[in-house]
Parts: sequence; C-alpha cells; structure tokens
Amino acid sequence: MSTTVTNDEASQYAFSNAYERGSQLRLLAEILDGHTTQVLADTGIAQGWRCLDLGPGQGTITHWMAERVGPTGNVTALDLDPHNVVPADNITVRADDVRTCDLPEGHYDLIHTRLVMLHIAERDLVLTRLIAALKPGGLLVVSDWDGTRRDWMVHAPTEAAGEAFDAFQAGLLAELEAHGADLGWARRSPVAMVAAGLQDVETVVHSRLWAGGEPGCLLHLSNSHQMRDALLARGVTTEQLDRLAEAMHNPDTLAYCYWMFTSVGRRAQK
Ligand SMILES: C[S@@+](CC[C@H](N)C(=O)[O-])C[C@H]1O[C@@H](n2cnc3c(N)ncnc32)[C@H](O)[C@@H]1O
Repeated sequence: MSTTVTNDEASQYAFSNAYERGSQLRLLAEILDGHTTQVLADTGIAQGWRCLDLGPGQGTITHWMAERVGPTGNVTALDLDPHNVVPADNITVRADDVRTCDLPEGHYDLIHTRLVMLHIAERDLVLTRLIAALKPGGLLVVSDWDGTRRDWMVHAPTEAAGEAFDAFQAGLLAELEAHGADLGWARRSPVAMVAAGLQDVETVVHSRLWAGGEPGCLLHLSNSHQMRDALLARGVTTEQLDRLAEAMHNPDTLAYCYWMFTSVGRRAQK
C-alpha cells in the first residue's frame, strides 16, 4: 500500500537526527531504554524472530532486539535518517519514509516504534500499514509521549524559571503541532489500535522525575537548543531560554520528561 504525501511543513519531521551529532537521540536512549526493553522482553522476543524497529533514531533498541533474535533472526531499522544506527550482520538498515515505502505483508513477528507515530500526521494510515506488515499473531509495540498535560515542572528553583519552562514547552509543542504532531495521540493510541483490529491490547504508562543536570532535564535543554530559532519566532524570549538553561542544570529542579504510553497489541491469527 502506498499514499501520496505532500511536502508542506505539516508533513516534515521537526527534529534533526544530525543535530549535535545525535545528542537528542542519545538522551532519549538513556531516559527510555530501560522501560522499552522491559516491555519488549515481556513480548517473548526470541531467536529467529523477524522484527521491524520503525524510527530507531540512535538504534540502541534495534541492537537490543538484534541480540535477542540472534543470527537466525533479523531486525530492520527503518528511518528517514538512519545514519546513527551502527550496522550488524542481522540488522537491515533502511533509509525510507514509512508513509510511502514498500513494506512486506504478513512478514514480521514484532514491530516496535517509539516516539514516531506522534510526529506523523498520517499516523492512522501508518498504523494500518504496520498491522498489515505483521504475521498473523505478530505483535505491535507503540510508545509515545502524552503532550496534553502542562504540569511537568514539579519544583522550579524560582518562579521565573517555572514561567520560562512553561513558555518553552508551549512554544515547542506548538512548533511540533505545526509539523503534524498530535499531542493527544498517546492517549488515543490504545483505542486506535483496537479500532484498527489488534487484539489483547494492553497499555502501561511510564514516567519519572528528573533533577537538573540529569538526562530528562538535559533533553528539555537539548530540544530548546535545537529549536531555538523556532521558539524565538513563537515569542519565547532569550531571557527565558537563559533561565531555562540555568534551571535544567540546577539540581534543585524537579521535572517530568512527559508521560509515556506504551501499548502492545496482537494481530489476529486469521
Ligand atoms: C523522536 S525520534 C525517536 C527515536 C527513537 N525511536 C527513540 O525513541 O529514541 C523520531 C524518529 O523517527 C524518525 N521518523 C520520523 N518520521 C518518519 C517517517 N515518516 N518515516 C520513517 N522514520 C521517521 C526520525 O527520523 C527519528 O529518527
């Protein structure tokens, strides 16, 4: 199945995997891989499985899966820009757009995708394509952050730092939405997976608090650097960005790095 994708802003992924040589992706791996590997281990992933890691970014989960499936299995790492994924014998690296590329039908035992569907405007179509690519009985694991809450700062070192954090989040999320992101997708995803025909859909919600200087706060900082021009264009001030930077290094700060909804669903046997 293929579709036509326009080339307007709402169809373009907002971040760059090359920015600061992938620093955002390394932080995501530090923050999230413990959670993701726990969920993937519970799927029973085993030697010989054929897997797809959609939007692998840094590729740490691709490599974890490749270790599990061994030399008789394979993991395809499919990304618009997979240049950070280190190749290996049982890893197939594909530079492609999941909205339009050819996907094999009924092929995969397991498909994993983290922080990708939220960004893709055509996510419902992509969900249908991913399910069609699963073998009967195959598993789909979808993780995304919920962008609907606005209370991620739990303890700000100063009132001004709290206001700067809120201004940054409002600007960042508006920019992502302009690029096609759906901030409510994570909450909607379990229902969408059932509606798309998956069975036994189960969801866990994961988060933790991070102090200034720790990976969750450093990710907010990294995103503020990468999106600096867009944030300024959306009315965030340089003073606010300076205060944000101080707060994200201040050990008195305590903030969430969003709430992650991770759902696992199974394609019907017939
Ligand atoms: C926020 S990063 C998440 C990376 C990784 N999954 C993680 O959680 O650490 C989103 C990734 O999805 C990829 N991506 C975005 N849109 C895509 C598309 N239409 N087709 C394939 N990959 C896409 C990006 O290039 C990027 O690597």
